Amino acid sequence: MVPFLRILGIETSCDETAAAVVERDAEGHSNVLSDVVLSQLDEHSAYGGVVPEIAARAHVEALDELIEEALKRANVSLADIDAIAATSGPGLIGGLLVGLMTGKAIARAAGKPLYAVNHLEGHALTARLTDGLSFPYLMLLVSGGHTQLILVRGVGEYERWGTTIDDALGEAFDKTAKLLGLPYPGGPAVERMARDGNPDRFAFPRPLVGEARLDFSFSGLKTAVRQAAQEIAPLSDQDVADICASFQKAVSRTLKDRIGRGLQRFKTEFAATFSATGSATSEKPALVVAGGVAANLELRGTLQALCDKNGFRFVAPPLHLCTDNAVMIAWAGLERMATGAAPDPLDVQPRSRWPLDSHAQTLIGFGKRGAKA
Ligand code: KG4
Ligand code: ZN
Repeated sequence: MVPFLRILGIETSCDETAAAVVERDAEGHSNVLSDVVLSQLDEHSAYGGVVPEIAARAHVEALDELIEEALKRANVSLADIDAIAATSGPGLIGGLLVGLMTGKAIARAAGKPLYAVNHLEGHALTARLTDGLSFPYLMLLVSGGHTQLILVRGVGEYERWGTTIDDALGEAFDKTAKLLGLPYPGGPAVERMARDGNPDRFAFPRPLVGEARLDFSFSGLKTAVRQAAQEIAPLSDQDVADICASFQKAVSRTLKDRIGRGLQRFKTEFAATFSATGSATSEKPALVVAGGVAANLELRGTLQALCDKNGFRFVAPPLHLCTDNAVMIAWAGLERMATGAAPDPLDVQPRSRWPLDSHAQTLIGFGKRGAKA
């Protein structure tokens, strides 16, 4: 039987420094004792994006105190912790080094096992902590660094069904905002402007729509936005709003097509597991969304409607667990411990690139900024 486990999680892969203490009982129920996140947004916003050196320095300055705070809020000491889980990739290498070295140091000093966690696995397993989801399910990760559709078969068993061949979706929002003179991060700004805009004024491209493969492409969309903006410059507020609304509509239609195909494939592959016979295993299949772009209400609405139409459950964990946090890293560590997986050796190295699916091919153009999740 799996024992009761308590773990300290550390996350430093991008621009959030985070620490958390999470428990898992023998039945797989979770209990979040603390969840501390320090965003570096203010430090990066002047540059219109994350600056790796600034991020790494900010992690060094904040992490020790954040871990202390996480232990204090959880009302535990290191002696009460069974293991340490630290993100070791993918991400910005400076930040990863800070978090993983700190994790190793604590593991060594306190004599606890260390789990080096894949950040994407943290996102992938969060819905089991928040919604008790069982395997298999589909996960759409849409953040500033990734746009991936992943089949989650089990702990450590992932298949990447689709990924972006160029920009991540959050990146497309950020670049669109930047060229329209909107603040960073661009997603919330574009969404806000789009509310007052005409989504039908510009017919922006919907890349890869209609293709059988499940990949994504957003750089052509961004280029079309730039051209439209240049043609009608100088832009009035209404122009900006119309461009934002038309951009969001193009993204929404693209996701509808791509994810719609993913749901069909899932239904075909798992027809036996999710048959309508009323057996114990015949609950509805689920699509889980994660990453900062999941905050977008229009895109959420599109995905919800798509799930309703296809007989899927749409699972969107609370936003603070969709964006980068240490609870998901702690939980991924707990899930691995619960399978009986051995801890990692203390000489484990951080990996800026680390696909969840070890068989997945690197696609052309992917990863220009793809270190970030
Ligand atoms: O997961 P996240 O917080 O951080 C990392 O990428 O690591 O995602 C941030 C991304 C940014 O690109 C931001 O513009 C986007 O999520 N984002 C949104 C919205 N809120 C944040 N994109 C579209 N609509 C939003 N409301
Ligand atoms: Zn992430």
